[in-house]
Amino acid sequence: MEPRLALALALLCSALQAAPAGPQRARSALGQFWHVSDLHLDPTYHITPDRTKVCSSSKGVNASNPGPFGDFLCDSPYQLILSAFEFMNDSKEQVSFMIWTGDSPPHVHVKELSTELVISIIGNLSSTIRNFFPDLQVFPALGNHDYWPQDQLPVTTSEVYNAVADFWKPWLNDEAISTFRKGGFYTQLFESSNSYQPLRIISLNTNLYYSPNKVTVNITDPANQFAWLEEILETSSQKKEKVYIIGHVPVGYLPYARNTTAIREYYNERLVKIFRKYSSVIAGQFFGHTHRDSIMVLLDEEEKPVNSLFVAPAVTPVKSVLQTESNNPGVRLYQYDLFDYSLQDLWQFYLDLRDANKKNESNWKLEYILTKTYGIEDLKPESLYEMAKQLSVPNSTLFEQYYSNYIVSYDKTIRCEEGCKTCQICAIQYLDYSSYTDCINHEAVWR
Ligand SMILES: *[C@@H]1O[C@H](CO)[C@@H](O)[C@H](O)[C@H]1NC(C)=O
Ligand SMILES: *[C@@H]1O[C@H](CO)[C@@H](O)[C@H](O)[C@H]1NC(C)=O
Ligand SMILES: *[C@@H]1O[C@H](CO)[C@@H](O)[C@H](O)[C@H]1NC(C)=O
Ligand SMILES: *[C@@H]1O[C@H](CO)[C@@H](O)[C@H](O)[C@H]1NC(C)=O
Ligand SMILES: *[C@@H]1O[C@H](CO)[C@@H](O)[C@H](O)[C@H]1NC(C)=O
Ligand SMILES: *[C@@H]1O[C@H](CO)[C@@H](O)[C@H](O)[C@H]1NC(C)=O
Ligand SMILES: *[C@@H]1O[C@H](CO)[C@@H](O)[C@H](O)[C@H]1NC(C)=O
Ligand SMILES: [Zn+2]
Ligand SMILES: [Zn+2]
Repeated sequence: MEPRLALALALLCSALQAAPAGPQRARSALGQFWHVSDLHLDPTYHITPDRTKVCSSSKGVNASNPGPFGDFLCDSPYQLILSAFEFMNDSKEQVSFMIWTGDSPPHVHVKELSTELVISIIGNLSSTIRNFFPDLQVFPALGNHDYWPQDQLPVTTSEVYNAVADFWKPWLNDEAISTFRKGGFYTQLFESSNSYQPLRIISLNTNLYYSPNKVTVNITDPANQFAWLEEILETSSQKKEKVYIIGHVPVGYLPYARNTTAIREYYNERLVKIFRKYSSVIAGQFFGHTHRDSIMVLLDEEEKPVNSLFVAPAVTPVKSVLQTESNNPGVRLYQYDLFDYSLQDLWQFYLDLRDANKKNESNWKLEYILTKTYGIEDLKPESLYEMAKQLSVPNSTLFEQYYSNYIVSYDKTIRCEEGCKTCQICAIQYLDYSSYTDCINHEAVWR
């Protein structure tokens, strides 16, 4: 037997022994990790008879049905955030690490926050996570709300980047911290005893590309992040590493809006190009920001699926009074293959906020398991592409399920048809301008 093969088999055996006790299937050795996003703590949240005063994040509007775990017109009370981490801790899931994709401060008027307050809230949630999981490796990313004034994340070092770097020192090495101080992004290797090779995490500061960021208007490569990213991916590809990309604002088109990218179009085209070029290195991409649960599959120029991308729903249930739908609070668990980091499954957990408030009990539970719900083998690009095709079938009941998951079971009676469905379906499969436009223009064919 070849020494390398023997080593691989030895690793396989030890990995199998170390296999997680929780959700598991009779298949290859799996690793697991948590993904939390958009916690949006509102420290002002409190129950009081005057409903306009329950939380500043309702912006003077009456809270709808406030309870101990929050309200759909408010950002998260601390108790909701605690309940999420308590659930994750109590679940006893064996995880190798956690990704946390940003947005800690509440949605309030710019004047109600300050650099100091924003820093203190990010510090609070960083400590909260560390109190719950003192030994867990966490890979965080900055969100557009993790700055003051919001969205205006700068291309050079800043008070916020420096303060946050200090909070994240327990999780990141010196090199990552020093890169982070300069531009709010970093990369770090994750090495684990039970996996075959190390995993590279690249935490992008996509807030630099976010449309409302005025600081970066007309800058072709804000903070030289594109050049940096290409260099890291090139080296990874030479070393045959596997990479997970994490970030806050997602690449691609917004699933709820027609013809609208979350980041500026020019930056979106550039990112898509980089991701296509290095798709064989990138084993998964993870974002937040929209507060909803959605999936994207990156296709190459020949329409071959080459990357799997996930947008995790928020912990905060907040919506504005003008929106008809929101999301229940959610956290998720991913399962990956210990040999090549390919994604095998996703377990979405949620808190039924109305029920939790009614019962004064944080009964977090499983919402769905992705492969079971959509009848696919795993979460590799080919499988997600197959799923996307199923969803685009006219009157697909699977699509109704997808939409219910999209709003984290907020309201099963809400339907997404016609134009709403068009936007969702095109956003899942087409991340660049030309293919997205083709999709939108041909909607009559498949709707
Ligand atoms: C809030 O609710 C109270 C009581 O129903 C009502 O009098 C008040 O006008 C409402 N305020 C706003 C801003 O809607
Ligand atoms: C975080 O903020 C909450 C609410 O304002 C407070 O109760 C809690 O003690 C703070 N936790 C930490 C670790 O700072
Ligand atoms: C996490 O769970 C363990 C029991 O498994 C418990 O001892 C510990 O106190 C919990 N951590 C927190 C912060 O609640
Ligand atoms: C960006 O470039 C455009 C076109 O050259 C110019 O009109 C605009 O003033 C520039 N904006 C900023 C903020 O530099
Ligand atoms: C989509 O948006 C772009 C840029 O905002 C615009 O140039 C284009 O005409 C739009 N396409 C469609 C089909 O609406
Ligand atoms: C909710 O439960 C907590 C303890 O879990 C208790 O302290 C609190 O008084 C309860 N609130 C209500 C409104 O029953
Ligand atoms: C889809 O449903 C609509 C109305 O519910 C119906 O008019 C249409 O014929 C159905 N389309 C297909 C392809 O079944
Ligand atoms: Zn957010
Ligand atoms: Zn955001």
